Amino acid sequence: MSEIFAQYSRLEELPGLVEKIKSLIPSDAVIALKGELAAGKTTFVKSWAKSEGVEDTGSPTFSIQHIYGERFRHYDLYRKEFEELYETGLVEEFEKPGLHFVEWMDERLGNLLLAGGLELWEIEISPFEEGRIYRVKRMDE
Ligand SMILES: Nc1ncnc2c1ncn2[C@@H]1O[C@H](COP(=O)(O)OP(=O)(O)OP(=O)(O)O)[C@@H](O)[C@H]1O
Ligand SMILES: [Mg+2]
Repeated sequence: MSEIFAQYSRLEELPGLVEKIKSLIPSDAVIALKGELAAGKTTFVKSWAKSEGVEDTGSPTFSIQHIYGERFRHYDLYRKEFEELYETGLVEEFEKPGLHFVEWMDERLGNLLLAGGLELWEIEISPFEEGRIYRVKRMDE
């Protein structure tokens, strides 16, 4: 794991921060969003989606997946067991090209994705004053 970048941002500054982070992360990657309840994980993903001009269209197959477009997917794995994700075939979704944003990724899933050769990044969000600190890391095996 290596930390690449860290920055404080208030809500109204988020679009600028998203642009900076976009320039660091490759266009095919899994991005795990870390942070406690209400840290701002979903807000970050939605801000990124807005900057790409894509909208949430739900998912025909998985209730915990939101498809925003061919190259933009968002998953909320809160309280989901790894076995369940594996059995339903959700894990295979991550092989599709584009960006995959994941809230509440567990270590087993992360290790599996890394072992499969996928680019895994982490954005850790922590409350600070009226905003949040965003820490961007690249994960390796
Ligand atoms: N950079 C920021 N500065 C200030 N407030 C923020 C920031 N980012 C998000 N918030 C606020 O934090 C609250 C929670 O945001 P959000 O729902 O994105 O959190 P979450 O981490 O996805 O929560 P959960 O764990 O429930 O999924 C919202 O009211 C949102 O407006
Ligand atoms: Mg959320």
